[in-house]
Amino acid sequence: MDYWKGGILKRILEKAEYLSRYDVGETTESLARKLGKKSSEILKLNSNENFFVPLGFLRQILREVVEEVDPRIYPQDELAELKEVLGKYVNVQLEQIVIGTGSDQLIDLVSRTFLKGGDEVLSVTPTFSIYEKCAKIQGARYVAVPLMEDFSLDVNKMLASVTSKTRLLFICSPNNPTANQFDPGRIQRLLEEFDGVVAVDEAYVEFAERSLVNLIGRFENLIVFRTFSKAFGLAGLRLGYAVANKKLASVMNERFQMPYSVSLIAIKSALKVLERIGVVKEAIRELKAERSRLIGMLNQVDGIHAYDSQTNFILFQLEKDSDKIYEKLMNRGVIVRNIRRVLNLENCLRVTVAPPSMTNRFIKVLKEVLVAGN
Ligand SMILES: Cc1ncc(COP(=O)(O)O)c(C=O)c1O
Repeated sequence: MDYWKGGILKRILEKAEYLSRYDVGETTESLARKLGKKSSEILKLNSNENFFVPLGFLRQILREVVEEVDPRIYPQDELAELKEVLGKYVNVQLEQIVIGTGSDQLIDLVSRTFLKGGDEVLSVTPTFSIYEKCAKIQGARYVAVPLMEDFSLDVNKMLASVTSKTRLLFICSPNNPTANQFDPGRIQRLLEEFDGVVAVDEAYVEFAERSLVNLIGRFENLIVFRTFSKAFGLAGLRLGYAVANKKLASVMNERFQMPYSVSLIAIKSALKVLERIGVVKEAIRELKAERSRLIGMLNQVDGIHAYDSQTNFILFQLEKDSDKIYEKLMNRGVIVRNIRRVLNLENCLRVTVAPPSMTNRFIKVLKEVLVAGN
């Protein structure tokens, strides 16, 4: 019997056709192999990881964790302990926190909690692609309203796109890939006038000026996502959290989240990093200074326009073909993200803000390929 022609396996293929593929991009190892280089020679600037938090500091924490954990046992009180410490960090009560395996998993959790087939999800374009993916996995229709030319929210159009089926609104602020933080007044208007759930993704908020977490007390329909992958430099451990009012948080924690979704290693490491938050704050300060320097250097290059950033990445537009420049950078061992089109802006690339030695090498290679490539 050909299982793919009829029955359940065919149905999976049909559903898969409708879902978008998330492309994580080239990996360091595979590019190094292709170019005949060592992995350490590859400059990975495509996933907004944080190279400012010292590796030695994080490895020391991991060594301490390894000495303390018994991996034979499921996490016990550690999750509550992390919620308590996080509660103090974001100034909410521990019952308002849901912990998950990265904010990706929390976006999926919120989608599973609030959506069923036939519902609608509203967001903007361009933005983080996981919202669309998670909405579609639930069988919901995904509606994306373009940002205004200055990358701000078109609130009137967003509200006009709400239908009787719209259950959930995703806003990424600061936004990936445009790197700007949205005006809190506009988000507040959405919270007031849209009676579904408003999920605000603050993955990059530590690099920005303000958070919307303090609005949770006023708006019962607000959920905020945060992550340890960006400011804390722990992308490889996979840890994130959502903040909401107690009732919503307890429904998500008790009914929809898996009991042991997060590893003990990740929980214990996060607790130790939060104990030494000064190191993270210093890394954020250095990153912001380097971000200004990188924007300045990019804008000095002929044929480049770099946009302001409230994140740890920079969006910039080229006069030349971004596909070609992206390939040429890759051939020299530099991986950036090829965004291509942002609204009516063609030829956009996105680059992670990295420490000075990496940034200097990136700028040098970029200038070389711009001269070489037509
Ligand atoms: C806007 C945004 N949200 C969430 C994530 C994923 O974060 P996590 O590593 O916590 O799953 C990313 C990762 O790049 C992101 O850009």
